[in-house]
Amino acid sequence: MTELHVVVLAAGKGTRMKSAQPKVLHALAGRPLIEHVLATARSLDVAETVIVVGHGADDVRAALAHHENVRFVVQAPQLGTGHALLQTESALAGRSGTVLLLYADVPLLEAGTLHRLLETHRGARASATVLTAEVADPYGYGRIIRDQGGELARIVEERDASAAERAVREVNSGIYALELGPLFESLHQLATDNAQGEYYLTDLIAQYRKRRLPVATLRVRDAGELRGVNSRVDLAELSAVLRQRKCRELMLGGVTVEDPGSTYIDADVTVGEDTTIAPGVRLTGRTIIGQRCHVHSGTRISDSTLGDDVTVLDGCVVEQSTVGSLVSLGPFARLRPLSEVGDGAHIGNFVELKKTRFGARSKAGHLAYLGDAIVGEDVNVGAGVITCNFDGVQKHLTIIEDGVFVGSDSQLVAPITIGKGAYIAAGSSVTDSVPPDALAIARAQQTNKPGWSASRRKRNKD
Ligand code: UD1
Ligand code: CA
Repeated sequence: MTELHVVVLAAGKGTRMKSAQPKVLHALAGRPLIEHVLATARSLDVAETVIVVGHGADDVRAALAHHENVRFVVQAPQLGTGHALLQTESALAGRSGTVLLLYADVPLLEAGTLHRLLETHRGARASATVLTAEVADPYGYGRIIRDQGGELARIVEERDASAAERAVREVNSGIYALELGPLFESLHQLATDNAQGEYYLTDLIAQYRKRRLPVATLRVRDAGELRGVNSRVDLAELSAVLRQRKCRELMLGGVTVEDPGSTYIDADVTVGEDTTIAPGVRLTGRTIIGQRCHVHSGTRISDSTLGDDVTVLDGCVVEQSTVGSLVSLGPFARLRPLSEVGDGAHIGNFVELKKTRFGARSKAGHLAYLGDAIVGEDVNVGAGVITCNFDGVQKHLTIIEDGVFVGSDSQLVAPITIGKGAYIAAGSSVTDSVPPDALAIARAQQTNKPGWSASRRKRNKD
């Protein structure tokens, strides 16, 4: 078994993105563009991956720092695709086997296609195998020029092509399998005598033919896989494709997606069987949704985990939070980062949690704000309850122990602890901690003035 080395070209500027951010870091389906190709490559048995960076090199390196087995080489200045690959010479020195060359900005490429490319390459004992595609509009691509025997003779770039060559609709994907043996020696011989004055990797093919090194091709079945991202228009179009792929994968895995066209689910999200996703839902980042959940319209869930049998009613926002099983959320609930909701809990209409642990079977049904709070189990939080967690300078903790009943429209001024089983009368402004099992009433005493209203009415009539 020969060793496989992946090289990913990611040095280009991406001028047409019109962005301060390197093109390969723009998000596509919730991941930086380059992560798609890296994820596809991971499914192959890869010895190591070398990424050629240039524009925004430091940012790209930082964004990919979590990858093991990945090395970076810098290409500066960027003198073409042949020059880019040449930069990996010292990184790959002493290695043998095959290089799989990929582009960071071609995210739809499927692992199966790469497997077939490598099979073709090995089967033909080729020095280079080019992945090609037949397209309706070949404009801008390098054209595959074949000899009379139908063998690949050379690749000619759009700007260097004759009218006859431009009519060819078989194009170069830019993705190749290359044997390390003759590779770098040949790359050193590339010249820049072309319309763009660049070192074209594509010139390797004619050179190999001259040297009688075997070259092969594999034509991809679906040219759509080879689409590259050059502008934000491409980004939107390809994200629509990935979205459809993701919804399809989920549906085939037992998830009901009522309207894939309006459902936005990032590549890394997982959803359990028999969960239903309503139209207009967005699940992003590393979100995990359990089984038999129902997520209703207008909800966004980001980087969060939901257990099984959770109902999320319309219009909720859930970010970086963890929700247990059998929970009901919303409508219009907001879980801000670092919130945890226990099993069987209920977070209802217009309730906001921030950095709050909300215990099992506890309920906050209406119009509450719970920030920097630890709420125990079986707690009842009445309508309009507010934790006053901020004194204008610092945030303070509110602790509400198990079984507490907080009457409606109460304010709990933190730092404060409401002891187990205590009862807060409605409308209280609670500034001192409450012992377990006590009743706290912290509001003005009511006075009734008998007959006052009737006598006012009478006065006003006179
Ligand atoms: C290249 C191919 C062309 C093929 C097309 C497919 C050459 C000469 N042409 O053309 O045959 O049809 O891809 O999309 O190879 N890059 C670097 N350093 C450089 C130049 C490019 O890292 O100096 C990277 C870019 O970031 C990008 C990739 O290489 O990821 C392709 O570069 P690009 O300039 O887009 O090549 P094309 O002109 O499209
Ligand atoms: Ca390109």
